[in-house]
Amino acid sequence: MKIGACLLLALLGYANSYKNYSGFQLLQTKVLTNRDVDSIAPLIDFTELDFWVQPRVGRSAEILIAPEHAIYFKALLNSLGLEPRVIVDDISVHVERERNEIERLRLLEKRGGRDPALDRFLNFEEIMAYVDEVSAAFPEIVTVIDIGSSWEGRPLKVVKLSNGPGKKGIFFDSAIHAREWIGPPTALFAINELTENLADNQALLDANDWYFLLIANPDGYHHSWVQDRFWRKTRRPNNLCVGTDPNRNFDQHWAEGANLTEWECSATYPGSEPFSEPECKAISDFILATPAITMYVAIHSYGKYILYPWGHTNDLPLNVNELDAVAQEANAAITAVNGTVYEIGTTANVLYHAFGTSNDWAYEQAGISLAYTIELPGGGLGGFNPPASDISLVNAECWEAFKVFAANIPISRKTFYLSK
Ligand SMILES: *[C@@H]1O[C@H](CO)[C@@H](O)[C@H](O)[C@H]1NC(C)=O
Ligand SMILES: *[C@@H]1O[C@H](CO)[C@@H](O)[C@H](O)[C@H]1NC(C)=O
Ligand SMILES: *[C@@H]1O[C@H](CO)[C@@H](O)[C@H](O)[C@H]1NC(C)=O
Ligand SMILES: [Zn+2]
Repeated sequence: MKIGACLLLALLGYANSYKNYSGFQLLQTKVLTNRDVDSIAPLIDFTELDFWVQPRVGRSAEILIAPEHAIYFKALLNSLGLEPRVIVDDISVHVERERNEIERLRLLEKRGGRDPALDRFLNFEEIMAYVDEVSAAFPEIVTVIDIGSSWEGRPLKVVKLSNGPGKKGIFFDSAIHAREWIGPPTALFAINELTENLADNQALLDANDWYFLLIANPDGYHHSWVQDRFWRKTRRPNNLCVGTDPNRNFDQHWAEGANLTEWECSATYPGSEPFSEPECKAISDFILATPAITMYVAIHSYGKYILYPWGHTNDLPLNVNELDAVAQEANAAITAVNGTVYEIGTTANVLYHAFGTSNDWAYEQAGISLAYTIELPGGGLGGFNPPASDISLVNAECWEAFKVFAANIPISRKTFYLSK
């Protein structure tokens, strides 16, 4: 479906088509043991269950469930000894509250000048308008690079900040998972620091180039604003359902362990083939064509983690000491702001096995030896809906971490590990 048809549908059916989350519950299991994780594993790809926090040893899993499935799955989880309890009784209350808050802030703010509204979530059009404004206002620093289009035809715009040629750069992708709305504000804040507040940050721009792909999954992001707040994937239809998990679609140990028939409707469906999603293909083409980029940071939520390769194996990457040292330094910078502590380690060891992620692709296939995923904090019991009042602290913390990342940009690419 092209964007025209989409807009038309949105106009015709806006109120009716907004997914009604009335009665959807967020369940939390007990703290899981090794055995519990094994017993819950077969449930991960059930399309009735949306795992907001994946099962892992020593933590509780969190699962969103529709009212019509709640009784059955609570009984199932109970029979497995996982002691599910309801931590949000009706998630639609949070969705509604968030929407009202955004409308209230929109009315309040006087968007005079070019400042982005850094204190609330911005929709796709608002973010693109900001990109246009900031590039017009700071033409000597900001270049907007059109790296391609989404499935529905929305632009993939990389904001490049540079004050001279020949420098190495750091690349950020955010909102590749549509519902993770807390990511783009941290990138917008960084852009603002490097333009409006450049006087305080001149050395950061003198040293390196910065690249931000603010919305890496524009169709999904748009969908999460106008139809389904908790949409995660792209919007390209497959045989059975709609959408691919773009952060499983990169050509790096793609779909290992996956059963494609069963997975088409799941939240982590990796696509029909590597780079089936134009968004992921565009990112990879751009990264491969831009060797000056020697550091990669994927911005996600939620969970307070700084992750590095690998996701596909529990083995440690060859330069694990370097990866870990920079992550520790970034975490210390975050903690210095207001005491927040992130957990650090490889994706597979700290979180779960993940194949075909942008982070690991950048490391293994593009030779970017420092490649990270930062999982930003969630909103207490609201998961993906942190209140807007949380944004400024997350922005301030991330900015400190981003500065640490930028201070460690490698001087060249190098490939430690090629398994293909
Ligand atoms: C959402 O669903 C609930 C219960 O099924 C219903 O009472 C409510 O009116 C619906 N809300 C909207 C906006 O359709
Ligand atoms: C995938 O799942 C389908 C449906 O359960 C099954 O028929 C098929 O054999 C599985 N394929 C593989 C490769 O395991
Ligand atoms: C900083 O942390 C303290 C203690 O946890 C908390 O009460 C306070 O709200 C935090 N500050 C901000 C700006 O969130
Ligand atoms: Zn994510």
